Amino acid sequence: MSFDYFLYKGVKFSPGSYSQELLQYVENEFQVLDDDVYIVTYPKSGTHWLIEILSLINRDADPTWCNSVLIWLRSPWIETKEGQLQLKDLSSPRVLTSHLPFHIFPKAFFTSKAKIIYVMRNPKDIFVSLFYFAKIICHYKDPESFEQYLEDFLQGNILYNSWFEHVRGWMQMKDNSNFFIITYEELHQDLRGCILRICKFLGKELGDSKIDTIVKHSSFEAMKENKMSNYSLGTEEYIDHTKGTFMRKGTAGDWKNHFTVAQSEHFDRVYQEKMKDLNMKFFWEG
Ligand code: A3P
Repeated sequence: MSFDYFLYKGVKFSPGSYSQELLQYVENEFQVLDDDVYIVTYPKSGTHWLIEILSLINRDADPTWCNSVLIWLRSPWIETKEGQLQLKDLSSPRVLTSHLPFHIFPKAFFTSKAKIIYVMRNPKDIFVSLFYFAKIICHYKDPESFEQYLEDFLQGNILYNSWFEHVRGWMQMKDNSNFFIITYEELHQDLRGCILRICKFLGKELGDSKIDTIVKHSSFEAMKENKMSNYSLGTEEYIDHTKGTFMRKGTAGDWKNHFTVAQSEHFDRVYQEKMKDLNMKFFWEG
């Protein structure tokens, strides 16, 4: 798509789904309820996987809701124009989604009892996923080339700025009891164990067979088949179905099929520089 990003407090947004007024409203006036749960992610970290899991947990593993209501209506994005309209129809307890960086997240959250689940993923895999996603989703600028887009990603010259800023900002919350971190890689390695940990964080107790049902319905294959979750019903203004599919590959480590050795080493150098004083070791760092 051809448009210019605009800045809100230093963060890039596209004009279609976002506006200065809306972002200002979301930051300063949005009403956070104590029983809200927010899925917060940098784009392509596994946001929709979590929406599916939480949709199932909140309905005691009954898949009817997931099979009958579109995923973006089950957990709307608080910072988009569409999301703000959609969330008016939700009843409590709400599960809401956001890609907002820490410094512009709704202020009311920080004095509430609401919870955040922050999903992280190996940024090299995020980049590959985003490279394909940006080609099909209309509020992203089209990547010129893999090489150029990699530079844009590393410099944060894209929608929602850089992954590094996002993670560094949100890690200020890491010791808070209402903030839970989970990685895409952990979900892959032990989905059942992750669902149990999420249930514990949410104070939800479900028996073994219900947990098994959630595992089954939140698998990549199940979500890819589910028209309510796979974006095949996304409208033309939002997604160009001729250029790719939303449920693309669903694997960990796909970056190895895309990066040259030089690109990977360059990425590692930038990563180390930008993350050096964070003193946290992430799952994908081994
Ligand atoms: P790929 O493009 O690597 O396939 P987000 O929801 O944050 O936009 O992230 C989308 C990524 O998560 C895509 O990655 C998508 O395929 C993957 N994904 C979505 N649901 C998944 C699931 N149930 N299991 C594994 N990966 C999933």
